[in-house]
Amino acid sequence: MTTKILSEVHRRHIAALREQPALIDAEGLRIGSQYVMFFAEADLMREHVARLTEGFSRPDVLEVGLGLGVFAAQLSVREIGSYWAIEPHPGVALMARTRVVEPFDVPVRVCVDPWQLVTLPAEAFDVIMYDTWPPDGHADPDFAAFVADVAIPCLRPGGRFSFFHSGTSISPARRAVLDRHFAEWTTSPHTMPAEQTPPHWTKPSRDFLIPIATKGDAR
Ligand SMILES: C[S@@+](CC[C@H](N)C(=O)[O-])C[C@H]1O[C@@H](n2cnc3c(N)ncnc32)[C@H](O)[C@@H]1O
Repeated sequence: MTTKILSEVHRRHIAALREQPALIDAEGLRIGSQYVMFFAEADLMREHVARLTEGFSRPDVLEVGLGLGVFAAQLSVREIGSYWAIEPHPGVALMARTRVVEPFDVPVRVCVDPWQLVTLPAEAFDVIMYDTWPPDGHADPDFAAFVADVAIPCLRPGGRFSFFHSGTSISPARRAVLDRHFAEWTTSPHTMPAEQTPPHWTKPSRDFLIPIATKGDAR
């Protein structure tokens, strides 16, 4: 068995993340002084859920970056087979687990670790959602590593992968990763209405893309 280790930059990042208090208020989840997820993103997450799960009967779902549990809450309107979440901040994991995950009437598991240290079963998921908070400058390399090391090995053939994406175009680096690993991928636009924007909105845009990448059937 290979022992998984974090790079020094990721070890420091996760240590700093875990040191900060997590708090939920009427707008969303703050880790330290920064809002990382807003209740106003519920419509966006509903769209991710709808497009990821459409056509599957009781899909097995993996979510990486549990956060406020907005995506997880939207799963409750779908009949899923099981739910597995990965979230390294213990306070965040506990709040989302209590508020959102425990009421699920299916097998659930919440791993309180960074995804880089979690060993997941091969070809065990129909749906994977990736929405994390990587160290500065590591978003694209982490995305590439996640797709190659987790999404592709852990999705069943025909399974779907999505990720949080702010803005209206996918970067060349991410397009190359999706082209290389998936049989096909699409994006659908979503705009948060101005009147729904929370007072402390922190994200770069109210425009989002919902990417859906499908793993091929070939083994
Ligand atoms: C934007 S939030 C996720 C929001 C969530 N999708 C929701 O619907 O509420 C990003 C989360 O990723 C978590 N995170 C940061 N680094 C991570 C890692 N290496 N592995 C898994 N989760 C990570 C953060 O603690 C944070 O809770």
